[in-house]
Order: sequence, then structure tokens, then C-alpha cells
Amino acid sequence: MFKVAVFVGSLRRESINRKFAKTLEKLGQPSFAFHYVELGDLPMYNDDLWADPPASVLRLKADIASADAVLFVTPEYNRSIPPVLKNAIDWATRPYGKNSWAGKPASIVGASPGVIGTAVAQEHLRYLATIIGLILMGQPEVYFSFKPGLVDENFEVTDETTRQFLESYLSRFEAWISRVGEPKEA
Ligand code: FNR
Repeated sequence: MFKVAVFVGSLRRESINRKFAKTLEKLGQPSFAFHYVELGDLPMYNDDLWADPPASVLRLKADIASADAVLFVTPEYNRSIPPVLKNAIDWATRPYGKNSWAGKPASIVGASPGVIGTAVAQEHLRYLATIIGLILMGQPEVYFSFKPGLVDENFEVTDETTRQFLESYLSRFEAWISRVGEPKEA
């Protein structure tokens, strides 16, 4: 089983991206254990705060360190990524020389109410992911169009083709982590 640090780029209670993450979590059992990283209590990045680092920042770095892989589930905000996500990305790259992201297997997905939503945000995030040293899975791309009824209240996918696609995505992610991640202790 792989422990995955999940970064949902929305703080909204009814976030479709959080629902999508929960859907993937359910489909991915028992191969994955999802841990939802808290982003809402991170202060805006300020280098001065390293003098007495906030507990939320230390927790963020520990969450990444203890994970086998990282999964971003992000909405698109004005054709880019939401600021909560960028803020977390920046915090975890510091202090200089202690970048938490380096060498972690990662994947990016996103959900939107529209058809092509999150494509540009994901593209921006792919660029950042390589810069910060994540080992990013390129395929398959997942642009989840969150239509009413497609996911039920128990986070089950109601459409068979969509469910199969998401299952195959998760299998590919599992294989990616096995291939590029740190060897697991016996
Ligand atoms: C959006 N939304 C949006 N959607 C999109 O496909 N492309 C975009 O550029 C934007 N821009 C944007 C900016 C801001 C500030 C907000 C609040 C929203 C709509 C967005 O896809 C929609 O609100 C999703 O429901 C947000 O995801 P969560 O919060 O439901 O996970």
C-alpha cells in the first residue's frame, strides 16, 4: 500500500475537487492510503517566519516527507492554480537546501464543472512540479468534468466507462510510484 499526500487546491466545503479526491480514494483501495494535507491554516509565505516556524508549516513538510507520493487535485482559478496550492508549494521548498518535494513521485488531476476546465491550471502545475523536483507522471491526463450525478453521495462513480478510466489511471499511478519511488522497506 502506498501512502499518498493529497493536495486539494480548494478550501471550499462543497469542493468538487475534494469530492473527486474522495472518489479516487475509494476506487484506489486497498492499494493507496490517502492523507489530506491541510492547506487552510498555512500563513502566506514569509521568509521571516522561519526564525520560529509555524506548526502548520512543519506539519506540511512532515506530511510530504512521510508520503510515498504526492497527488494534486486542483481546480483552475483564472487559468492558473489557486493561491493556496502555490503557497504550500513555496513553503515546502524551503528552507534552502531542504526542499521537501525533491524526488517524490507525483501526479496531477483536476475537476471542474465545465468540459476543458483545469487544463491550463494543470499545465502551470506541471511546469512547477518539474522545477521543484517532483517526479511527475505525464500520462494519463485527467480532466474530470464533474457533471451532476456522475459521482453519488457515497463517492461512487455512476458511469461504467468513467469508472474504468479512473481505475486504469490509479493502476498507472501505482505502477509509477513502484517504478520511480524510494524502495519500500521489507
Ligand atoms: C473559477 N473557475 C474557473 N474554472 C475554469 O475552468 N477556469 C478558470 O479559469 C476558472 N477561474 C476561476 C476563478 C476563481 C477565483 C474561482 C473561484 C473559480 C470555476 C471553478 O472551476 C469552479 O468554481 C470549481 O467548482 C472550483 O473547484 P472546487 O472549489 O469546487 O473544487
